[in-house]
Amino acid sequence: MKVTKVVIPAAGKGTRFLPATKSVPKELLPLVDRPLIHEVVLEAARSGIRDLILVTAEGKEAVQRYFEKDPALENFLEARGELGFLKQVKAVSGMVRVSSVIQDSPRGLGHAILCSRELVGNDPFAVILPDDLIDSVVPCVAQLADLFVRTGKTIVALQEVPGDQTHLYGIADGERTDPGVYRIRKFVEKPPPGSAPSNLAVIGRYILVPEIYDLIEGVQPGVGGEIQLTDALDRLAVEDEVYGLVFEGLRHDAGTRLGFLMANIHYGLKDEELGPPLLRYITDKIAAGGT
Ligand code: G1P
Repeated sequence: MKVTKVVIPAAGKGTRFLPATKSVPKELLPLVDRPLIHEVVLEAARSGIRDLILVTAEGKEAVQRYFEKDPALENFLEARGELGFLKQVKAVSGMVRVSSVIQDSPRGLGHAILCSRELVGNDPFAVILPDDLIDSVVPCVAQLADLFVRTGKTIVALQEVPGDQTHLYGIADGERTDPGVYRIRKFVEKPPPGSAPSNLAVIGRYILVPEIYDLIEGVQPGVGGEIQLTDALDRLAVEDEVYGLVFEGLRHDAGTRLGFLMANIHYGLKDEELGPPLLRYITDKIAAGGT
């Protein structure tokens, strides 16, 4: 079955990026010249996704507005003959159909996903955590969706992480069934240092079956007092089959200040116009001992 819907949780306060996020939602902070969330929605669109369900919060209306048509801006650009910008602006609103739901209190990722239930209905759906940017030849969601089409089962994106970082992630444990593919038997959210069952971290891309909603409803608050998606996945791995795919691609965690800057450097270097002068700037910086 084809996956045509994506849920993107975007209700967080973005406290790590204060004071910028006092008035600009974190998801709209720039990645070179586009908002962070643009990049992951483009990944979804390139993976065949047609419907975006945003889980957002009061005061973050600008996130949804970004994906809507803006006739006044289009008319302005057309009158000015700014046809390049006009094309870009039109392409943004043509990427996906958007609907949104408000998560009224920050009760965790599992709870955020639960808020999307009515809009998703009874279909399998993708989830993208917009902090995780993945640059790859085949979009990461498409890699997962391909395995979903073959198995009909829940798929999570996996990446091996160093042992001293496992406490930052949901960790999966299971047995390898094919190159890069694991049948997952157990999930643990942010295990205390030294106690992780493996070093396979769940990265923010999932293809979920609608049965996950009942399981989320059944989980008790976990790590951080929050309703964790990982705890519902742990139940699902017992009741049904869940697979993990070690995806191909380069991931940046734009949810931290350092990761955000690194992502901007990475995507800036890839930009045809900005890449060469940016590289010269960085090279000069290094030659000057970083000052
Ligand atoms: C969330 C999930 C975690 C996952 C991570 C990936 O955690 O709860 O299981 O490994 O995203 O980025 P967060 O980073 O939001 O604390």
